[in-house]
Amino acid sequence: MPPATATARAHANLALVKYWGKRDAALNLPATGSISLTLEPLAVEASVSFGGGEADRILIDGEPAEGEEGERVRRFLDLLRTEAGRRERATVTTRGALPRGIGLASSAASFAALALAGSRAAGLRLEPPALSALARRGSGSAARSIFGGFVEWHRGVRPDGLDSIAEPLAAPGHWDLRVVAAVVTSARKAVSSREGMQRATASPFYPAWVTEVEADLAAARAAIRGRDLEALGLVAEHSALTMHAVGLAARPPLLYWRGPTVECVHRVWALRAEGTPAFVSIDAGPQVKVLCEADAAPRVAATLGEVPSVERVLVCRPGPGAELLA
Ligand code: DP6
Repeated sequence: MPPATATARAHANLALVKYWGKRDAALNLPATGSISLTLEPLAVEASVSFGGGEADRILIDGEPAEGEEGERVRRFLDLLRTEAGRRERATVTTRGALPRGIGLASSAASFAALALAGSRAAGLRLEPPALSALARRGSGSAARSIFGGFVEWHRGVRPDGLDSIAEPLAAPGHWDLRVVAAVVTSARKAVSSREGMQRATASPFYPAWVTEVEADLAAARAAIRGRDLEALGLVAEHSALTMHAVGLAARPPLLYWRGPTVECVHRVWALRAEGTPAFVSIDAGPQVKVLCEADAAPRVAATLGEVPSVERVLVCRPGPGAELLA
């Protein structure tokens, strides 16, 4: 087979109804469905070429990949080789517009871009649903980043996971919302989302989380359809806070928040009490993401920027799905 190269770009996403826990760790199948919004400008570009070389070469943001981060990419390349019936080693480079490992969903953007670039480079032409299933094997949330705008990732019921794929609910242009992200610290998180959700699954509160998700998914779908920010914001806030509550009750406990995380939440709630609809979400890290209308984004950004120790505030908008660049 001739050596082949492909390059793709994909964007991070913010889960409005969170994925937190797996029904199958080997196939990366979620315990529940989830709903997200793909975010511009949080993009990652990935190039993959097969052929030549004795070993896989993986460069992430210009540095050779080390430890678990490199291992995950290597396992993903093995999966691609199996699917495509190829044996050659690969060269992979990824470059992100966002810092990694701090809870801004860089793994979602990276594995969505890698799924598209890697499958093309390996000679596969996968339709978006199959790409979503492939990206999921790299990182669950990456299944959603294959698509732009509002996206639902289905739990699925099949043991082989073939029905656990994402699908678009509404295009980016459907609703011009903003997600304002406050970077509270750019130190790498101590507990990855993979490990965090494993710990959370053993929490006595975990069964309550699973029971609530179906209702949250239905409410989020309806709110997105009707462009109802209050309804969507309240569901998103509830999903995020419940996810963190499950972790607090785990043994050992899991707490991703830092002091400024809590301060940001209170400032957003104060804004809301004064009449600006704004709703918080927090992932597996200390950063705070705030959902609001476009015209409120400057006010929300200014409020978060005033919180002592907030390093940076990023305003994100609905973004596109994974795209092939070359
Ligand atoms: C809190 O997709 O990073 O961001 O499947 O183990 O790679 P793995 O986990 P990952 O987890 C994301 C968790 C979350 C919520 C979400 O994005 O739905």
